[in-house]
Amino acid sequence: MSGIVGYAGSKDALPVVIGSLKRLEYRGYDSAGIAYQNGKGIEIFRTRGKIADLQDALPSPLPEARVGLGHTRWATHGIPSERNSHPHRSAGVAVVHNGIIANYRKLKSELMSEGITFSSDTDTEVIPHMISRNLGLGLPLKKAISETVSRLRGTFALVILSETHPHTLFALRRDRPLVLGIGTDEYFIASDVCAILPHAREFVFLEDGQICTLTVNGFEIEHLETQGPAPVKRQSVTVDWAPAAAEREGYDHFMLKEIHDQPRTVADTFDEWIKNPQSLLDESGLSPNMTLGLRRLQMVACGSSYHAALIGRFLIERFARVSVDVDIASEYRYRDPIVDNGTLLLSISQSGETADTLAAQRAAKKRKIKTLTLSNVVGSTSSLEADAVLYTRAGPEIGVASTKTFTAQLTVLTLFALALGIRRGTLSLKEANTVKSRLMEIPEAIRAALQKDAEIRELAATLLQSRGFLCLGRGINYPIALEGALKLKEISYVHAEAYPAGEMKHGPIALVENGLPIIVLAPRDDLFEKMALSMEEAKARGGRVVGITDTVEALPGSVHDAIAMPSTHHLLWPFVSVIPLQLLAYHIAVLRGCPVDQPRHLAKSITDE
Ligand code: F6R
Repeated sequence: MSGIVGYAGSKDALPVVIGSLKRLEYRGYDSAGIAYQNGKGIEIFRTRGKIADLQDALPSPLPEARVGLGHTRWATHGIPSERNSHPHRSAGVAVVHNGIIANYRKLKSELMSEGITFSSDTDTEVIPHMISRNLGLGLPLKKAISETVSRLRGTFALVILSETHPHTLFALRRDRPLVLGIGTDEYFIASDVCAILPHAREFVFLEDGQICTLTVNGFEIEHLETQGPAPVKRQSVTVDWAPAAAEREGYDHFMLKEIHDQPRTVADTFDEWIKNPQSLLDESGLSPNMTLGLRRLQMVACGSSYHAALIGRFLIERFARVSVDVDIASEYRYRDPIVDNGTLLLSISQSGETADTLAAQRAAKKRKIKTLTLSNVVGSTSSLEADAVLYTRAGPEIGVASTKTFTAQLTVLTLFALALGIRRGTLSLKEANTVKSRLMEIPEAIRAALQKDAEIRELAATLLQSRGFLCLGRGINYPIALEGALKLKEISYVHAEAYPAGEMKHGPIALVENGLPIIVLAPRDDLFEKMALSMEEAKARGGRVVGITDTVEALPGSVHDAIAMPSTHHLLWPFVSVIPLQLLAYHIAVLRGCPVDQPRHLAKSITDE
């Protein structure tokens, strides 16, 4: 969750490092710091607060340096404070760290018993002290680093500066992302591609067990233990995200921009595969044997990605006639699910870095079943570790709440279900073509849904005093009710519960009281009459019914507010119905003064359990 940036090149390092740190702000952080070499030694500036506070603390003009290092911290061990901010140092060594050192207490007491004093409460600080101690014992720097790392338990991405090598950065990882960016006469290391998008187009995703050395003249990747040249298994990749994709482009918030991006990101995601969905299976790396012999698909994900998986289940069962289980990743990893050689695990994670999803994927590998992952980030850990990979093409998502990556996931899942159905002979080409042509209309349908923005803002203004919401759906729209409730909770800080409408009578209806907003997803499908009944029942108990539908005229009179959405194929309606819920949560959050892009207690990717 913490952010890391390093620079070595022909430009002035500090402005580049600070600019790159700003592009990591979206991940959430509570303090920031930088380090560079000033010719005499390592200089460090750190502060609690925002990058702007760090800039205030820096000398003006900024000192010149060719090599620099920066960090945004999201507190785990030790409160947010200047002393706990990174970089941490020991004699002649500075370190920034993303992750957790599980055995730091033991290492710390060992170091303290040797008379080393600590100046922070962090787990990180053991690292520079151990490297310095190893240097003091006469080990060369890389050996001092590898000896240190061999004693660390836990997960980490580390970047290290040492006064013994004044023009060099050393970077390595275990289970945390680190990406090397290659520019013209300049080299970058970062925890996230977004940080360095404007500067580099070519990237190498570091792997566990490697150490990358960056200087102003180039980079080198070696095996950490043997320190021989490491075969870079994955060659450098080109990331085609436009730097502007990581800018707000005139919108008040990234979340709003990303909601409005969706017609394009859905189209970008289906573009390559829509003519021939089966090409998606070939591109993923799944063998024909695996797809034809598939008996059970286990999907794992967290948060919004989990909701996308729930929708995917309807599509895959319907088109490909494969039995599908969907699990929250943090539950799956501790279950003992039944698997056989016809089982495939599909992990869904926009970041590809979510700790629980990765753990679930690894648990599947241990059970010797094949793994497929769906990620938005080329080179993410899930994509490096899975047997087969599919990517959404949503571009970087900066707002903490998932919006455009959610609909991009639905796009891939729809095509995946069609492709599997065609290959397995469970779906006629005629039906596949119908769904395909309706999918091609989805960008236009989302555009039409977005036209309701002002109307939804007005509705949001009337709901500001409500402290609780109910969201109801059935079938493929129930996961959209869950997604709407999640958005309200995380962005607007209001309590929201989602239920399958048929469950209301089994308890939750007791919650309904005068004025409680009840958002009901009611497309004109086979379940419409049942949804209409749910609305009547909610109204009869004093609820304020907000109906989201494609047939306003058919809604019962009990509906207080009706939001008309375009209609589409009933299995694709979630693409449309999620839009008003994203917008509603967004506007309530703005009107309530919530920090939309960086909600409290949340980070963009949850890399700890
Ligand atoms: C909700 C949200 C989170 C993520 C969840 C999984 O708006 O953004 O619930 O969906 O943390 O993240 P990924 O997809 O990166 O694994």
